[in-house]
Amino acid sequence: MAFSWKVLVPLAFFASTATAVLLPPRPSMEVITADDLFSVTDFSGVSLPSINKTYYFDQLIDHNNPRLGTWKQRYWHTWEWYKPGGPIILTTPGEVDNTALYTGYLTNKTINGQIAQQEGGATIVLEHRYYGEAQPLGDLATKNLRFNTIEQAIADLEYFAKNVKLAMPGGSKVQPGKAPWVLIGGSYAGALTAWTMVAKPGLFAAGYASSAVVQAIGDFWRYFEPIREHMPKNCSADIQAVVTHFDKVVASGNKKAINALYATFGLEGAQYADDVASILRGPIFEWQDLGPRTGPNAGFYQFCDALEVKNGVSAPAKGWGLDHALKAWGDYTKVIVKSQCGDWPINDCITSHGVVWDDPTPPNAGRSWLYMVCNEVGYLQDSAPPGYPTLISRQMQPEYEERLCRSLFPGKFPLWGPDIEAGVARTNAIYHGWDLHVDHLFFANGDRDPWRDATVSAKGLNVRSTPQQRIMLSQGFHCTDMNTANAAADTTGTIKAVQVQALADMKRWLKEYRRQHGIYVQGVLDVEGEEVVE
Ligand SMILES: *[C@@H]1O[C@H](CO)[C@@H](O)[C@H](O)[C@H]1NC(C)=O
Ligand SMILES: *[C@@H]1O[C@H](CO)[C@@H](O)[C@H](O)[C@H]1NC(C)=O
Ligand SMILES: *[C@@H]1O[C@H](CO)[C@@H](O)[C@H](O)[C@H]1NC(C)=O
Repeated sequence: MAFSWKVLVPLAFFASTATAVLLPPRPSMEVITADDLFSVTDFSGVSLPSINKTYYFDQLIDHNNPRLGTWKQRYWHTWEWYKPGGPIILTTPGEVDNTALYTGYLTNKTINGQIAQQEGGATIVLEHRYYGEAQPLGDLATKNLRFNTIEQAIADLEYFAKNVKLAMPGGSKVQPGKAPWVLIGGSYAGALTAWTMVAKPGLFAAGYASSAVVQAIGDFWRYFEPIREHMPKNCSADIQAVVTHFDKVVASGNKKAINALYATFGLEGAQYADDVASILRGPIFEWQDLGPRTGPNAGFYQFCDALEVKNGVSAPAKGWGLDHALKAWGDYTKVIVKSQCGDWPINDCITSHGVVWDDPTPPNAGRSWLYMVCNEVGYLQDSAPPGYPTLISRQMQPEYEERLCRSLFPGKFPLWGPDIEAGVARTNAIYHGWDLHVDHLFFANGDRDPWRDATVSAKGLNVRSTPQQRIMLSQGFHCTDMNTANAAADTTGTIKAVQVQALADMKRWLKEYRRQHGIYVQGVLDVEGEEVVE
């Protein structure tokens, strides 16, 4: 996971470091890195190149105006299981800069490689435009971000599939139609998988979309609902007690009481309640990094332990109550604030007000992602509506992130903007959000995933799963079903069940595609998709 609150650098540090940003976590895939496959040979008996070998593709800058030229798009590729006629399994890790660490998605550590192994397929990991070294116009200046859109990202996938000449034997003759292409992604890249299949019908033979946030949502306060449902009760009760108190003190307008409250968290001198509230939101985001293998020392549980374990004793379900929780949360936060702000005046260190930060230096996944947030997808992780329980101070409103949009992309939006609701409405109109229906698409979601309620498994939505568009909900977390190690560690068995069903559906769907297109897999499957007996 790219995000860790503990290494975040506050906004005022932008200008000097430009490395990390005080932005909410992006919906992104788990880092899975391959061990080298150097000693493995392919179907023709030739040793495979190192799995770390980087390939380059000449990708169009602007698919609406090819004359603007091309840039070099990085990809990784292996064909350990490939048999001529087998599927080409493509994934992009989406909005991450360290794409080179995602080579595990070439191997059978992941659902990608499992499908390749079963079907005689080859695998590809493709860097997403505006992340890592994928900089179509060289940098991230606001004006140069104009091709950072869902539409262009989808067109990249199409242009790549239709034009790439893969290094493997016969790799220049595997365009869609001659070979089945399978698109796989998790999180934003999972949504991109579903949206691509809507926008480019027939291009991909099948898709696997994990934790796919298909519905763009402006005020996505429900991000915190799966967390509230599944977290330890004592911790939830105490967080809500502190947050309720915080909001009450802020609403009182009593300057002295407010500053004393901020001082509890090491934030005396802060001038804006939403800046302080955004610091308190930080540890809740740690939930997104949980999975079946993270164990009791994961960041989120360290935070809960800090609040709930007193002299070696855990609080009962109703928590310890406000006094202890406030002090414990304060002490926990002070350490982090001290390490991040040092001797800076607190307000300068943490404020989102009146800041201009327009550093174009690439890569900067936080900046590239925020651009898409402001224009197309929203997903603002703010407080629950009035009267509804909230883990987040009610000071956290969409205005907070809208201000970041104006600060990071000055001149791009009006003073009252951006109009995030209009942007997400447009996205959902084009790609159909929760209403999207395409054949041969497999949705895998996790009940403990904070992004759950932007997927087709959103609580109360009840989209029907069919044999042609499968929807499965495991007891897992964010994108945890992409990794075979998670299936092995998951005591509920529900992640394994997702992977087993996906492999069965892929077998059926690819067989159908091969039959329609007269493709057979040499030595493995005949034209009917039946096993060849040698
Ligand atoms: C491949 O790259 C990864 C990530 O940079 C690295 O950890 C690994 O050691 C590399 N393996 C080989 C065999 O070069
Ligand atoms: C994964 O592939 C390796 C070869 O790279 C093979 O030895 C192993 O058995 C495979 N594992 C599974 C679970 O299929
Ligand atoms: C109380 O908190 C402790 C420490 O975080 C946790 O291990 C335990 O499961 C919690 N118990 C309840 C009932 O929430």
